[in-house]
Amino acid sequence: MTEALSVVPASPQAARFSGYAGSAAPVVQSLSDIKPGAEARVSIGVDELDRVLGGGLVAGSVILIGGDPGIGKSTLLLQALAAVSCSLKSLYVTGEESPEQVSLRAQRLGVNADRVRLLPETSVERIIEHARHEAPQVMVIDSVQTLYTELLQSAPGSVGQVRESAAQLVRFAKHTGVALFLVGHVTKEGTLAGPRVLEHMVDTVLYFEGDPGGRYRVIRAIKNRFGAVNELGVFAMTDKGLKEVRNPSSIFLSRHEQPVAGSVILVTMEGTRPMLVEVQALVDDSQLSNPRRVTLGLEHNRLAMMLAVQHRHGGILMSDQDVFVNVVGGVRVTETAADLAVLLAALSSFRDRALPNDLVVFGEVGLAGEIRPVPNGQQRLKEAAKLGFKQALVPTANVPKAGIDGLEIHGVARYAEVLDWFA
Ligand code: TYD
Ligand code: MG
Repeated sequence: MTEALSVVPASPQAARFSGYAGSAAPVVQSLSDIKPGAEARVSIGVDELDRVLGGGLVAGSVILIGGDPGIGKSTLLLQALAAVSCSLKSLYVTGEESPEQVSLRAQRLGVNADRVRLLPETSVERIIEHARHEAPQVMVIDSVQTLYTELLQSAPGSVGQVRESAAQLVRFAKHTGVALFLVGHVTKEGTLAGPRVLEHMVDTVLYFEGDPGGRYRVIRAIKNRFGAVNELGVFAMTDKGLKEVRNPSSIFLSRHEQPVAGSVILVTMEGTRPMLVEVQALVDDSQLSNPRRVTLGLEHNRLAMMLAVQHRHGGILMSDQDVFVNVVGGVRVTETAADLAVLLAALSSFRDRALPNDLVVFGEVGLAGEIRPVPNGQQRLKEAAKLGFKQALVPTANVPKAGIDGLEIHGVARYAEVLDWFA
């Protein structure tokens, strides 16, 4: 049953967004004979979401949005659907919440729900039947874990059901050109029937990051057939839903009044924007025969590598120490530019000596003990200077010849030079 909030007449944009050419009778032809039209992209009207999608929504594309329960997936998609519904016909399929709950949320968000059509349904066959009739241009399925198909006997939420249900919807989207958002919960323990089994089927995979208890939410594209990956969209959760954060470079930064041992400010470049984050390490005597190596927001193997470099090229042994490293604020840093920050944070905690609190750091560290340059050095340094930092420790090859106003830049090429600098 569709809950009629209102019926939308097809907009003029509808034709342009009907997109995908359909798969009537495929023929074999030369690649060079195929003349793709410009991808019909439509701005959703939520800039940070457009950004992670690679500049807007593409007709016939399937986007998987994963994240912990309660992180804000439903909130974001309801906001996005309301925003896009003034130009595109939209349908929100809710399998988890009742229409009343969705309506209450829409009221709370203060969004214009006039043109958002709602369908409470979990049977894929019936969803597709309704969708054929409604002919939406954008459709949200919240969530894939609630879906079931009559083709299979197993319970909703099982891997088979999730995979088969999603496959049917993907075929439907490719055939009709509807842009499809699939919501998937990621569970802490393993993600068994979680969205991971769907990643290869869809065009774009977005994951929510951030601490569900905290204020900020980051959306990262980890796969995108229509744009760059690792682009971030940043939002703040407020009492009126998710608000875009347009200049997120310093939101994860907590400035300490006094310098603190084990804390280093890293300039990371996720996607196209530099962001400053605090990397914290705690190095402490271990009571275990196998001391702990724990990372949060960073790659675990990378820490083991850095500690090996530290021993081999710096002569500093931490084999009887527990080492914990954390990126403050629940963000994930995936790039190797974090290496130098991790090393320095561990060293600073080990020696119980603070680094200056107006210092920023970035750089990749190689196994030979060399400090390797990272992309976009100048942009990172400029952002740090803009935020009032006074010193930077970076790979020599990233030191700009002309310098940066207000920033004293130390270049290092070998790990031994880092130790000299910190001596
Ligand atoms: P929700 O979108 O339901 O999460 P998901 O679909 O990913 O499970 O978000 C729920 C959380 O967001 C909930 O803890 C309450 C909070 N929230 C706000 O803080 N402000 C709001 O305006 C809304 C709608 C939700
Ligand atoms: Mg939800």
